[in-house]
Amino acid sequence: MAFINLPLEKRRAGEVPPEGDPSRPLAIVGEAPGKVEVLEGRPFVGPAGRVLSECMHSAGITRHEVYITNTIKVKPDNLSRFFNKRTGRFTPDGEEWVGRLRHELSVSGARAIVCCGKVATAALLGRADITAIRGYPFEVLLGGIKRVIVPTIHPAETLYSRNSIHRLYIAHDLQKAARLARDGWSPPRIEITIPQTVHEVRAAAELLQRATGPWAIDIEVINFEVSCIGFAYARDRAVVVPIARAWGLDAEVEVWDILAELLETPGRVKIFHNAIFDVQFLAQHNGIFVAPPIFDTMIAHSLAYPDMLKSLGFIASVHTDLPYWKDWADFKSIEREE
Ligand code: URA
Repeated sequence: MAFINLPLEKRRAGEVPPEGDPSRPLAIVGEAPGKVEVLEGRPFVGPAGRVLSECMHSAGITRHEVYITNTIKVKPDNLSRFFNKRTGRFTPDGEEWVGRLRHELSVSGARAIVCCGKVATAALLGRADITAIRGYPFEVLLGGIKRVIVPTIHPAETLYSRNSIHRLYIAHDLQKAARLARDGWSPPRIEITIPQTVHEVRAAAELLQRATGPWAIDIEVINFEVSCIGFAYARDRAVVVPIARAWGLDAEVEVWDILAELLETPGRVKIFHNAIFDVQFLAQHNGIFVAPPIFDTMIAHSLAYPDMLKSLGFIASVHTDLPYWKDWADFKSIEREE
């Protein structure tokens, strides 16, 4: 048993050491060892480890290709000694493990690191909103080297909740991380034009008309009115027109006229996510009748993957390498200012 080969002081301390070659480009970080891991002296070899192995298998990754470690390297009698699951914060004892993990990874060759669950994610990203951010790449500096963190659901969660679709999400996240470890990743530069005057709105509309491809369009609705409309006209270019409270009455009428002309342009492919909502909202509240052809990413994704979640945030996490953008703008504080 691998336990036998552990250095004596580690065996005494009940520590389960990492497994695999630390120079591997892909690392997987768990929470803490369980009973089986302590017995065998190896990480992820118990029930959660079996789930992880299955997910790795689906993702085309073998165990010897990766470096596997845990945030906390002893089996905690009570996790709350190290980590508060509700606040997502570590206790002083937990912080010691975080420091050790960060150092361990700083001197590793990992280019991409999969964080399984809240504890590992909080240790490396300082945030634990795993349901929102799973599957998104985050760039962090460890040991002066840029690494990509991909948070995912903890494999053990699929045992408690019996939510087997989550295994598919873990497999997707592992596969993405393996690809980013191989090819590298840095956050894309996305140029967003936010016109401030009617003249600038008109110039942005001309820019959109000159673009040759489809427009991906999204409206944000706050308090039953459109607060802004975004048009992406290339992978890395978008125009976001602020609406509510951004203009005086006359200027807002002019802005809506320009937007109506864009949205009612026939022949231009317009991509929405859940077009039924946006299109009917614009018709009902603003008298704008979006002209076809209309493509809907929510319908396309639901047809291809009927069992998966279908929010825009979710589908971006499985079909793209985009960074998590949902906290770039603080809509709640915009709402509060009103
Ligand atoms: N086994 C581990 O080694 N780590 C976990 O996080 C869970 C089980």
